[in-house]
Amino acid sequence: MSNNKAAGVGTRLAHGGRNKTMQFGAVNPPVVRASTILFDSYDAFVNRRSRDRRKGEFMYGRSGLPGSVALEGLMAELEGAADCISVESGAAAVVAPVLALINSGDHVLVADTVYEPTRNFFTVYAKRLGIDAEFYDPLIGARIEELCRPNTRGIFLESPGSLTFEVQDVPAIVAVAQARDIYTFIDNTWASPLGLQAIKLGVDVSIHAGTKHVVGHSDAMLGLVCSNARTEKAIRAGVLALGHNAGTEEIFLGLRGIRTMEVRLKQASASALEVAKWLTGRPEVARVLYPPLPQDPGHSLWKRDFTGACGLFGVVLAKPYPAAAVAAMMNGYDYFGIGASWGGYESLVIPTFPERLRSAVPWTAPGPTVRYNIGLEDPADLIADLAAGFDRLNAAGG
Ligand SMILES: Cc1ncc(COP(=O)(O)O)c(C=O)c1O
Repeated sequence: MSNNKAAGVGTRLAHGGRNKTMQFGAVNPPVVRASTILFDSYDAFVNRRSRDRRKGEFMYGRSGLPGSVALEGLMAELEGAADCISVESGAAAVVAPVLALINSGDHVLVADTVYEPTRNFFTVYAKRLGIDAEFYDPLIGARIEELCRPNTRGIFLESPGSLTFEVQDVPAIVAVAQARDIYTFIDNTWASPLGLQAIKLGVDVSIHAGTKHVVGHSDAMLGLVCSNARTEKAIRAGVLALGHNAGTEEIFLGLRGIRTMEVRLKQASASALEVAKWLTGRPEVARVLYPPLPQDPGHSLWKRDFTGACGLFGVVLAKPYPAAAVAAMMNGYDYFGIGASWGGYESLVIPTFPERLRSAVPWTAPGPTVRYNIGLEDPADLIADLAAGFDRLNAAGG
């Protein structure tokens, strides 16, 4: 489409990234299986770097094909980004831009609530390369300035945080970073570009595990890295040099998924709010960790900065129920599958252990924590399933 930015999100999701020439009139771009692209001549090959994939001028499988051009263009437009590059997983989307922009000897501030493999990357692999990662209280806001050193080169955010869902003051942190020429990265998977336009808020790099909301059907792995004008070149070059590449089928599934992302997220968020409200009235529950709930400590920041949510939240149980009781509750669910990841159409549950993952701010809670992903099932069925689960919890050790 003509990139009509005034059009609504649903319209942009339906029409964005479509290109008549590359699609031969079909609604969706073809799944092109290609490594080698053949050139007409010696000169065409030698000058291949002047080709523009956005005009259908391709060069090699890893540097873009019709599907990736469509998906990346649409994501960039939704984020207000200069560019977006697709990679093979959300984990790759976290690591690649950091390696593209941060050097040995640099100091990086990392939110204490980042996704566990992100934490692991910084504490083990980045450290090996001479990158010094320091974890900070996600609620630090503008006080992050006190942690900045002359060699601080990056600040990594994730909002809401993994497992415990703290909302960060993104504009306050961005203001400090911009004044000191520090790169900001955010894992923006929970909100998607529909819920938080992080690049528009001044973040340099907005990272999405496309595996979740973009793909939306639990059937493919995908990562998407959105960058602004000052980082786009370094990130595209770095991602290519590091050998990342999203598979052509995965890109197709991402493109298929993203067309319905708004309706899925709206429905999942509405159902999640209904379920979360019900959970807050249960005696087995101390707290529901979900920023859209008015009583959530992050609610006012969420209302100020976000335009949407998703169906993922945490629950803190009211007392130290034994693991066997939590297991009995989870094992008997009809609709909540026990499994990692989220963002599909189906509801999921996992036990979580944030107390094992925090180093800047210890996690304390009266009982175990559990994470639910609310899918597209009828909320009344999910509530009945959860109620039966609490009966098992109480019978097994309450
Ligand atoms: C917040 C967050 N970021 C990144 C990832 C990694 O995504 P992937 O599983 O596609 O590598 C996940 C996966 O659960 C996640 O929850």
